[in-house]
Amino acid sequence: MIRHVISVRQFEDKQLLTRLFKRASEFIELPPAQYPKPLTNLTMASVFFEPSTRTRLSFETALQNLGAQLISVENASEFSSAKKGESLEDTIKVLNAYADGIIMRHPEPGAAERAAKISAVPLINAGDGGGEHPTQALLDLYSIERFLGKVDGLKIALVGDLKHSRSHHSLALLLSNFNVELYLVAPKVLAMPTEVLDYLRGRKVVFQELTTWEPVIDKLDVLYMNRIQQERFRLEEEYLAVKDAFCLTMKDVKRMKKSAAILDPLPRINEIAVEVDSDHRAKYFEQVKNGLYLRMALLEYLYQA
Ligand code: NCD
Repeated sequence: MIRHVISVRQFEDKQLLTRLFKRASEFIELPPAQYPKPLTNLTMASVFFEPSTRTRLSFETALQNLGAQLISVENASEFSSAKKGESLEDTIKVLNAYADGIIMRHPEPGAAERAAKISAVPLINAGDGGGEHPTQALLDLYSIERFLGKVDGLKIALVGDLKHSRSHHSLALLLSNFNVELYLVAPKVLAMPTEVLDYLRGRKVVFQELTTWEPVIDKLDVLYMNRIQQERFRLEEEYLAVKDAFCLTMKDVKRMKKSAAILDPLPRINEIAVEVDSDHRAKYFEQVKNGLYLRMALLEYLYQA
């Protein structure tokens, strides 16, 4: 039984993944008036120390759909006592006095684990700096399965700022439970962290590191893009040197398999040209919708009686 959701490494149990995905698909079909209310009488805190559109709003919608009462700090770095210098540990202790669960995004890798250590109520990592983003990876995997009908046997490219992109880290780790071929495509300076690569090696995942998608684009089943993570660079010139490393245009998409899916956790900056949006392979806005239902399934599972 999972209590805190800190890392996708907690989701090695395929039966659990199947159960969550099945439930998310049921939620998609269910009229909102028939949503179950397992979170009735529970107060849930959504505390975001970093910007968010999709993760925060989908979590808050999911919580309310399931009957929870919500307390929320959307800009906790500015508008919580963190601004006055309160430690994360103290903030979490205080939230425990009000809430039955905490959804937290924080700029420091490892912050979710630190917070979970002292939280008596379940804590869900909604992104910890350049660390992990477990619920994003769950919805990404769910999306892959929904769009392609399977996960095993797929050729999947993760493209972009693999050094800093927590969505890429978590998805790579989660995909290690499956029999997939991974292509990790990034400029050398933005390569996937050694820690993730070692984990993949340890789990015998077939992967290849590349600096361009050229050799593989025509055989991919999934092209998973994400923006260059500007806020994680120490020096602006380092960001400027790589900011245009990738831009997917229709010229590239035309070379892809007809059955392929293009995903992106969003926000899209310039890694995908807007012209791609109308191609049938562009699935990123549908992927967003899956996030709501997957998060409902996860919350229902965490708070089951
Ligand atoms: C991602 C994030 O915050 O890590 N966005 C999201 O949660 N959908 C990706 C990103 O910010 O690039």
